[in-house]
Amino acid sequence: MIEKILVLGGKGGVGKSSISAATAVLLSDLLPDKRILLISFDMAHNLSDLLSKDIGNAITPLTSNLWAIEPDANDYAEKYTRDLVKKMKTLMKQMPLVGMIPQIEEFIDTTFTSDSIPLALKNAMFFQKILDAEDINSQDVQFDIIIADFPPTANMITLFEIPEDQVKVVLKYSLNFYNSIKGAMHNFSKMFRQLLKPFNDDYEKRKELGKEIFNMMVVLEKRGERISELIHTVGSLRLVSIAEKPSFEEVKRARDLTNKYINLDAVHINMIIPKKHAKKCDFCGQISTIQQRYLVEIKSEFKNEKIWESNRLKEEPIGLDGLRKLAREIYNDASAYDILDPKA
Ligand SMILES: Nc1ncnc2c1ncn2[C@@H]1O[C@H](COP(=O)(O)OP(=O)(O)OP(=O)(O)O)[C@@H](O)[C@H]1O
Ligand SMILES: [Mg+2]
Repeated sequence: MIEKILVLGGKGGVGKSSISAATAVLLSDLLPDKRILLISFDMAHNLSDLLSKDIGNAITPLTSNLWAIEPDANDYAEKYTRDLVKKMKTLMKQMPLVGMIPQIEEFIDTTFTSDSIPLALKNAMFFQKILDAEDINSQDVQFDIIIADFPPTANMITLFEIPEDQVKVVLKYSLNFYNSIKGAMHNFSKMFRQLLKPFNDDYEKRKELGKEIFNMMVVLEKRGERISELIHTVGSLRLVSIAEKPSFEEVKRARDLTNKYINLDAVHINMIIPKKHAKKCDFCGQISTIQQRYLVEIKSEFKNEKIWESNRLKEEPIGLDGLRKLAREIYNDASAYDILDPKA
């Protein structure tokens, strides 16, 4: 059973992936009895780079109790929508006019595929597929803790929004598609009027198919509700910022846009120039002065949240050991309990 889902969000390049991976490695060290999954929900996956290990679209072991995956959204969209797409295609082909023309059949086959599903919807699909308890339980490994490295804010919001509105999105997508075909065919309608007559006999068949599609939509909607509920209960958002204006503004926006989906528990302020170095050079000193100002602002804005501060390290936090160093920098000697439930 999933006990906790940590979601790391924030502006591009602030350290979301590094902090996700560092947190995952530290928790796996601290909690040897828990099974932990680190998952990238950013289409531009980079966990492989951070971990110096090929991960890709398969659950890959990193330690004895930590696994990682960089899911291929297309692959999930394909699996997830195969039946639905097949039925929708059949329905479209059985529609009067549309189904009459051989080229249209080919057009439907080549256009109405999982490749043409909007990216945001695809992302949301694999987000749900991975989090859905039924699917997780069908994996060889079951997970207690999931650490989700999210894309920058705008794409993060769609991951939360779509599970709730997914059916609407799928319907709208299908309708747009159908209308585009119908629109294109409109001018030919007179020509085909005579030919259409026999198609009215297929009405019953279409009705049956329509019912099946409706049932699939209901299943989709239920899954969406299940995931939204799961995120409400065990999800914990951690926003990552650096001590600069654009990143600070973005975490404020991200907080406001996500608060109806997930609880914000902590804010990371990353890449701080250590004070002892700030004194050593003018350049570092000037940057540090700005950072200290934003540190105060961020802490005051997020005074109800746990603040985790982390200095900029001299070495890139790469590989398990590099990430352990970053984790120590962030969490010092905090317990796993403090990390998982910083507000408790
Ligand atoms: N505290 C730190 N000290 C030194 N380097 C860091 C620190 N945190 C992150 N980095 C480095 O900064 C770069 C960006 O980090 P990362 O890829 O984790 O950011 P991100 O927010 O996930 O970016 P994106 O929005 O592109 O996904 C990486 O090269 C990473 O190794
Ligand atoms: Mg990243």
